[in-house]
Amino acid sequence: MENLLDHISSEIYQKSYVIIDDFIDEEFRGELLAEQIELVRQGKFRHAAVGKGGQKQVRTEIRSDEVHWMDSDDLSPLQKTYWEKVEEIRKVLNQRCFLGLRSFEGHFARYPVGSFYKRHLDQFHAVPHRVVTVILYLNESWSSDDEGALRMYFPQEDGTELIEDVLPIGGRLVVFLSGEIPHEVLPTKKERISITGWLKDID
Ligand code: OGA
Ligand code: MN
Repeated sequence: MENLLDHISSEIYQKSYVIIDDFIDEEFRGELLAEQIELVRQGKFRHAAVGKGGQKQVRTEIRSDEVHWMDSDDLSPLQKTYWEKVEEIRKVLNQRCFLGLRSFEGHFARYPVGSFYKRHLDQFHAVPHRVVTVILYLNESWSSDDEGALRMYFPQEDGTELIEDVLPIGGRLVVFLSGEIPHEVLPTKKERISITGWLKDID
């Protein structure tokens, strides 16, 4: 974990994003996925909203995933284990990148077949407290034919953009600066499961 944390913090510092394969082992991934499937069975998922506060609304033409927010006061043992890993990332980013990160919020996300999330930034203009996005994919298997990539856009000095497509392969962790990297989820051909969270500069 020590080398990994060094790697995460230096990549965030230099490139504003990092992708870590096999961040969690197969056993833990399978357990988290099973928990997510059980929450779906219990009807705990809701259409995801866009916007913040009074502007919050379900707009399925912008995003068509379903989410279940984790309750920091009522985490399952598995969720707690994951939060502890994120806590290590939070600390090292504060030490090495001086980001002043104070808390984490996160939800399970389920993208049914055909769903997507159009290009966006994870920061709200009015409330810019989401500083670092942390996404962990839980999918059992994934191939490029399944599509549903996370597409990240990197603005270049000449005004063009570089594009990187990241497949939601189980165990893969993606970390990036929420306010700097526009991204989208391309339409998926297979149900797509993840935990998406944000490290924030407020409690
Ligand atoms: C989000 C998001 C990307 C992904 O939930 O804000 O951009 O790959 N998710 O799931
Ligand atoms: Mn996003």
